[in-house]
Amino acid sequence: MRPLLFAANWKMHLGPDDARAYLKAFRARYNRREHREVWFFPPAVSVEAAAQSARDRADLLVGTQDIYWEPKGAFTGAVSAPLALQAGARATLIGHSERRHVFGETDDDTRRKLGAALGAGLLPVLCVGETLAERDAGHTLAVVIRQLAAALSGLDGAALSRVVVAYEPVWAIGTGRTPTPADVVEVHNFIREHLTARFGAAGEGMRVLYGGSVKPSNAKELLTLANVDGALVGGASLKADDFLGIAAAYM
Ligand code: PGA
Repeated sequence: MRPLLFAANWKMHLGPDDARAYLKAFRARYNRREHREVWFFPPAVSVEAAAQSARDRADLLVGTQDIYWEPKGAFTGAVSAPLALQAGARATLIGHSERRHVFGETDDDTRRKLGAALGAGLLPVLCVGETLAERDAGHTLAVVIRQLAAALSGLDGAALSRVVVAYEPVWAIGTGRTPTPADVVEVHNFIREHLTARFGAAGEGMRVLYGGSVKPSNAKELLTLANVDGALVGGASLKADDFLGIAAAYM
């Protein structure tokens, strides 16, 4: 059974003090549950504060929103996987839609970053998803498979079992719009079939999250769909209360 995973992407919000206050409030009200993990992705400057606030809770984990593939060097502004680990990160987002579409990250960049994350011992959450134009043109499944295949090429079973996939339609991120349940199921089933066909048991064990305008009011509907193993949440993760309403959904 794949443990459910609820991931909070704080994007460019919540500095170190806010992160500490948030984690304090969250952990006071969120009790450990079987087969359920909660991961937080603060901005890089808040990773250490968040990680310290989550320590001694094995079900809560902190990660970075991005890494650069080189381990060190003259790369102003970038954070490497070893540096993120030193700050207390255990995971990292890879290829988030905003990295791809605001910062121009390519499929090949995601492959290198994913390899660097795994090599350093970080758990990668690989984000994939189509733009509205790609959906309207009927290319959703092709885009998702292209992004998956590019980022996962060359990995073996042991490495793959540590990768989490997040399907996030670009047009649903931060817009309040979500795909219909049937559309979510179609894409998640397709991803699951692809992972299993390509990678066998390791692919079967990989978790596939849904992301894009998940909020307390729609979490239950989205998270009880077939082959949805949890959620990646942006806006509704910024307040501990809202995210609690999602992480505790369908109890
Ligand atoms: P959203 O963002 O929940 O605000 O739509 C999701 C994400 O970007 O991961």
